[in-house]
Amino acid sequence: MKQILALIAGAILIAACGSEEAERSADGRLTVGFSQIGSESGWRTSFTQAVQSEARNRDITLRFSDAQQKQENQIRAVRSFIAQGVDAIIIAPVVETGWRPVLTEAQRAGIPVVIIDRNMALEDDSLYLTRVASDFVEEGRKAARWLMDETGGDCAIVELQGTVGASAAIDRMSGFNEVIADYPNARIVMSQTADFTRTRGKDIMVTFLRAMNPKDICAVWAHNDEMALGAIIAMKEAGVAPGRDILVVSVDAVPDIFKAMSDGDANATVELSPHMGGPAFDAIEAHLRGESVPKLIPVNGDLFTQETAAEEYRRRTSGEAR
Ligand code: AHR
Repeated sequence: MKQILALIAGAILIAACGSEEAERSADGRLTVGFSQIGSESGWRTSFTQAVQSEARNRDITLRFSDAQQKQENQIRAVRSFIAQGVDAIIIAPVVETGWRPVLTEAQRAGIPVVIIDRNMALEDDSLYLTRVASDFVEEGRKAARWLMDETGGDCAIVELQGTVGASAAIDRMSGFNEVIADYPNARIVMSQTADFTRTRGKDIMVTFLRAMNPKDICAVWAHNDEMALGAIIAMKEAGVAPGRDILVVSVDAVPDIFKAMSDGDANATVELSPHMGGPAFDAIEAHLRGESVPKLIPVNGDLFTQETAAEEYRRRTSGEAR
């Protein structure tokens, strides 16, 4: 009778632990599901590679899913990770809203979730373990401060927005607008989404250049380098000198924009580090050891200009810079 009671107690304990926290695989290796947005930009590709290489270095089994910029694909991937019983899930969310139901499912399964890169709009912060993220509002402010200094605050700006509903677009826009609001002669004259891609950045810039006399445009403010690079192509094709006739400021600091800056075609970029996998895995490992983890792990980036562009391009393409 005693043995039967002990067995029942053991079974209850295992069930309780299973609902609190996912079990590690039999060989002790962690298995982490990573739902990535897609491959819309050079930055995104570097970010994916950085997370994959960080997982390899730590001997973590990474289940990777590319959502091709669609939230429904991300939700499907997260449900599949839950069904597979992974130890943790990392999500780079394409848009801010609509995450509560699937995060609740992960919570019920006892699987910790790390939000990485973009943010989710959630009232209940118990639905995730931590966020590893940059301050997108501050990135927008940095870009605007540079532009206001450069132009004395007198500037007609065309804006290439990121994906509609993405925190990276919403917050960068709000930080930028907050700064230029203090300059009566600074104004956004045209603004449209180009979905964070080079092709759309080029197409939208073509429409801007047709809708307005290019001489009346002082600067392009692009929510990422990829769209800025597309705009540069459009300007060149229209006989406008990017970086000189029209200033170009953006965010990410990918090698291609440093090349464009060293050629004089772009002017400034704010860095978004792609190295967020390390802090995310650190947080997961700490949590599984029973340690507490802060709700936000910030990642910061500086603004770079043409002055250091050639040197930065060399460092970043030679493997010298991480
Ligand atoms: O969420 C970060 C943004 O998404 C990057 O700035 C952009 O390049 C990417 O597509």
